[in-house]
Amino acid sequence: MTLIRKAVFPVAGLGSRFLPATKAQPKEMLPIVDKPLIQYAVEEAVAAGVTELVFITGRNKRAIEDHFDKAYELEAELEAAGKQALLDVVRGVIPKNVSCIYIRQPAPLGLGHAVLCARPIIGDEPFAVLLADDFMDTAPGQKPVLAQMAEVYAYERSSILAVQDVPREHTRQYGIVSATPYRPGLELVQDIVEKPQPEVAPSTLAVVGRYVLSGSIFDYLARLGKGAGGEIQLTDGIAALMKQERVLAYRYQGQRYDCGSKLGYLQATAAIGLKHPETAEGFRACLASLLGEGRAS
Ligand code: G1P
Repeated sequence: MTLIRKAVFPVAGLGSRFLPATKAQPKEMLPIVDKPLIQYAVEEAVAAGVTELVFITGRNKRAIEDHFDKAYELEAELEAAGKQALLDVVRGVIPKNVSCIYIRQPAPLGLGHAVLCARPIIGDEPFAVLLADDFMDTAPGQKPVLAQMAEVYAYERSSILAVQDVPREHTRQYGIVSATPYRPGLELVQDIVEKPQPEVAPSTLAVVGRYVLSGSIFDYLARLGKGAGGEIQLTDGIAALMKQERVLAYRYQGQRYDCGSKLGYLQATAAIGLKHPETAEGFRACLASLLGEGRAS
């Protein structure tokens, strides 16, 4: 039995760092080899036992709805052409027992506000939040990151933030926690601040885009004013929650790629390209030759 049934995907962001690619399509639809970022995140949630996906969308995000919807014409054409393998790919985008719910965030007021928009669907249950541009890769035999967190939730029954150490000069890009030892791989969060400057950051332990949150977070989010960057910050909601309930920081197993940045996106593409059965061999040769050519010039 799974305890985390619902996951929230805040996907209303503009994706301005990838313009012009994101002028007419959501950044969450950018592919890593052949699968959009949002589908990787959805698969991670489904692997953790989630059956209700709540997308917080905005303008220009229709492609996400279409992606998880049935594609009648495409399916009919693939069927007529006898392309069964591709038909299976198209039909397998989302399992039949999983439902998608779309809520429009009327204005880009921040991540905390986006999560708050999911309140009518989540109620007071524990739930997950996944930021699709944090692409989490795991090695064979390793559980996907959200499944690792759901397992921790099953015995701790408290909010859990996925964390990793970052270089001190990067603290201004993350929610940063200060925490005390709790159990192997787990720490008790004592403080959390959004995007502190390196000189004042309480530590270098950064929150990455995977959260398991207690339903009571909504009470705190609803009362928040604007925080860092003039936005309603999820981090500030967690800071308030933490005063009443235990919040744990979990050092996940796996490799995160920051696909909100061009370099991180290219790294993820290279990592998956080198593993994908259709591209691994050719891509390895291609990279070797490109790098070889680079040396020669
Ligand atoms: C958001 C959160 C931040 C978190 C980060 C993880 O920031 O506000 O606390 O550390 O995601 O990727 P964003 O990257 O959306 O600016």
